[in-house]
Amino acid sequence: MDKRIAVLAGDGIGPEVVKQAIKVLDAIGHRFSHNFTYDVALVGAAAIDETGNPLPDETIEACKLSDGVLFGAIGDPKYDNDPSAKVRPEQGLLKLRKSLGLFANIRPVHLYYSLIERSPLKEDRIIGTDLVVYRELTGGIYFGEKGRMNNGNTAYDHCEYSTEEITRVAHLAFEAALLRRKKLTLVDKANVLETSRLWRETVQKLAQNYPLVEVEYLFVDNAAMQLIQRPNEFDVILTENMFGDIISDETSVITGSIGLLPSASVGANTALFEPIHGSYPEGAGKDIANPVATILSAAMMLDHFEMHEEAKLIRTTVKKVIDKGLVTPDLNPESFIACSKVGDVISLLIESDLEDENAFDNLFEGNLPLI
Ligand code: IPM
Ligand code: MG
Repeated sequence: MDKRIAVLAGDGIGPEVVKQAIKVLDAIGHRFSHNFTYDVALVGAAAIDETGNPLPDETIEACKLSDGVLFGAIGDPKYDNDPSAKVRPEQGLLKLRKSLGLFANIRPVHLYYSLIERSPLKEDRIIGTDLVVYRELTGGIYFGEKGRMNNGNTAYDHCEYSTEEITRVAHLAFEAALLRRKKLTLVDKANVLETSRLWRETVQKLAQNYPLVEVEYLFVDNAAMQLIQRPNEFDVILTENMFGDIISDETSVITGSIGLLPSASVGANTALFEPIHGSYPEGAGKDIANPVATILSAAMMLDHFEMHEEAKLIRTTVKKVIDKGLVTPDLNPESFIACSKVGDVISLLIESDLEDENAFDNLFEGNLPLI
């Protein structure tokens, strides 16, 4: 199959982790005779530096013409502590989500048993954690009217949701629950917010069409607590834009590193795939970032292309490499390999068609030129 992929590496460690995901996609291409072509485009601080615009029109065009977008990371400290900056890197990502109509952000959280020690939480609390967050991505407080009044001394951000915006993402979340453990948790703040009451009302109605799915309703403050106390009891978490942003970072801690968590953003047009982590500017250019989240995001892209066998091969290879302890410093500061080496090992294993475990072990014992 031929697929055209828009590559938006962005800022900080973005280019390094995206490079590893491309190595892995190329390995899949060789092994399964697919032809992936990459259309590189600017976004974020990198785009501001070159064009003054965090999302140049050519970038939107490249994304629309592609079959899928592979995204790295966005953000640069030089804007973070300047609240008066009129142009910010993050605007590029938000505008891109809106332009591509990416209303659902899907963030799976999978715990690798071999990394259980890396989690700050106790094993008996987290064992078996396997959940997915469905975060609404193009509405709510992120996109409502915002501004200043009273000579700049009062600021506001409006939060608005329509039944239609809620229904379309909730529908995807229910469908996902049906294919999983058939449990859905709506996270809201319906005891305080009118938008949350509309979420609850809409989800209650929709739930009637999914009698097989058990629905649980949690206020976001309580959910934040329960996620740490009993993460393994969650299956699908459905929530609005800002709660989803916060809750998904929280869930990443359970797994031991935010560098492990991929995401897919889907909607009306081309879908976008990105790690959930940020641009980690302190790590940029040092070859120490964890590329696994981006590599797994590429796997989600392959699933989206209906290349399920290919996606599965990436996931099983990532697991093998993690189980072998071939990880970046975020996962083991005492014994680690470089970001680029993780990409090398995973792509080499994918290309080498290793069927049996012995061959896999031989590769690591006899032949470690890569590491
Ligand atoms: C995320 C990020 C973004 C968000 C930022 C970079 C705008 O935190 O994708 O989770 O808040 O959505
Ligand atoms: Mg976030």
